[in-house]
Amino acid sequence: MNWYSTYIFITAHDSVTPYHMDREMNFLLQIRGTKTVKLWDPRDPEIMTPAEKDQLLAQRHEPRPTYKPSFERKAMTFELAPGLGVHHPFIAPHLVTTGKQLSISLAITFRTQRSDVWTDAHCFNHRLRSRLGVAPGNVGSRGVIDATKAGIIRMGRQARRLLHSSR
Ligand SMILES: [Fe+2]
Repeated sequence: MNWYSTYIFITAHDSVTPYHMDREMNFLLQIRGTKTVKLWDPRDPEIMTPAEKDQLLAQRHEPRPTYKPSFERKAMTFELAPGLGVHHPFIAPHLVTTGKQLSISLAITFRTQRSDVWTDAHCFNHRLRSRLGVAPGNVGSRGVIDATKAGIIRMGRQARRLLHSSR
């Protein structure tokens, strides 16, 4: 594990957290009230194409993938009540609604060495696509290639840091 954080979400009744994805994984545990969590498979190319994932993970701010009504039939729906929880896999898009009462949930959020490699490999792919017009291989299919891509991105970051600190 490279990083973790915990959050308590106190949410009004009948509220909606719109369709989005996170760079972190989490375990969302319901304490009070109810929540409906809809999750989508991030490996399904109809939900997010490889190019879209590369672009979303190269963004600095919260990534917002595009939602289409046709995705509804592919949603995995979890009805959370006190004592129940659900795991959000890496970059799995999700949409959350609360029930008729105040909702309190605990989110245990984390990143791993592997998820950080995937994030940097997506950044590498995005640069290849946007700057060189090359269609790179998908992240997640070969660990050695992902690690090499991430290594190149990290060396570039390190070199930029050194250049800035020497000015
Ligand atoms: Fe989220």
